[in-house]
Amino acid sequence: MSGKRTPKVALVPGDGIGPEVIESALAVLQAAGGEIEAVPFEVGLGRWKRTGTALSEEDLIAIKDLDCVLFGAITTPPDPAYKSVLLRLRKELDLYANIRPFKGQRLNLVIVRENTEGLYSGIETIEDEEARTVRLITRRGSRRIAEKACDLAKERQKLTVVHKSNVLKSDRLFLKVCREVALKRGVPHDDMYVDAAAYNLIVRPEAFDVLVTTNLFGDILSDEAAGILGSLGLCASANLGDDRALFEPIHGSAPDIAGKGIANPIGAIRSTAMMMQWLGRPEVSQRMEDAVSWALQTGMTTTDLGGSYATREVTEALALRLTDMSH
Ligand code: IPM
Ligand code: MG
Repeated sequence: MSGKRTPKVALVPGDGIGPEVIESALAVLQAAGGEIEAVPFEVGLGRWKRTGTALSEEDLIAIKDLDCVLFGAITTPPDPAYKSVLLRLRKELDLYANIRPFKGQRLNLVIVRENTEGLYSGIETIEDEEARTVRLITRRGSRRIAEKACDLAKERQKLTVVHKSNVLKSDRLFLKVCREVALKRGVPHDDMYVDAAAYNLIVRPEAFDVLVTTNLFGDILSDEAAGILGSLGLCASANLGDDRALFEPIHGSAPDIAGKGIANPIGAIRSTAMMMQWLGRPEVSQRMEDAVSWALQTGMTTTDLGGSYATREVTEALALRLTDMSH
């Protein structure tokens, strides 16, 4: 997206710590000079309890009309028939690429996770004695995620395709297509079995740059990378389609600490920075990223990172820093 009209953003704070971290992210965005028109949606467990619907068809239609979605976190209601709101949004908006950057002392990598198929295909049966989940891998799905990953790897160093093709036929197709795309695009690439990747992420994370992988492997490896970085609370993500996007911190709704004012807002702030980049406001995005780096360097952090500050204190410090810098 480009142009300077004010972007319209569907705001889905959600449940648990979602509203707290989104409030913080919006305050920091404003201090960084970012302008958006936020259109709030009450979506999630709270709504489900009141009305029996967590996300309606009308919501979906309205959301599709806006530029993108900024999402906090949603608690999954205790109902076996219920489908996760986040998964529905990913599918309905065809957000096939989940981009998760991890940058810290020991690592600087991006996990590019296929977001619509694999073991999240939804093709499942469950009976008393047997349950099945179809691991769907398609040429089209593999090609488009490989293309997104190659776009990123072209600006960086290399691509590593993470798979389990020694066991899974579905991953033979995934690997083959990823290699074809990387070759065609002239992107330096290698590949690794997912178990080896899980090990190497811990023992030599500096060996990775851009990783591309299937849905569940990407889910697991991204929590691992967040652990290496020090906290899930630090990490951001972009769920991208061809012209739609949803930005969300990778942490969940953390009901145990909701309302206590101690949630780490950095994942949400970084997700908002990724959103501004996508919306064609790289300078706002950079200012937000720089402020976050400053907070981390000076120890202005919440308790998950060993700091002693509340969500509000971190937010105010960041906002003040950004306001000072603009004078
Ligand atoms: C994530 C989450 C989701 C996923 C859940 C909440 C459905 O773990 O975004 O990584 O599995 O994709
Ligand atoms: Mg996950």
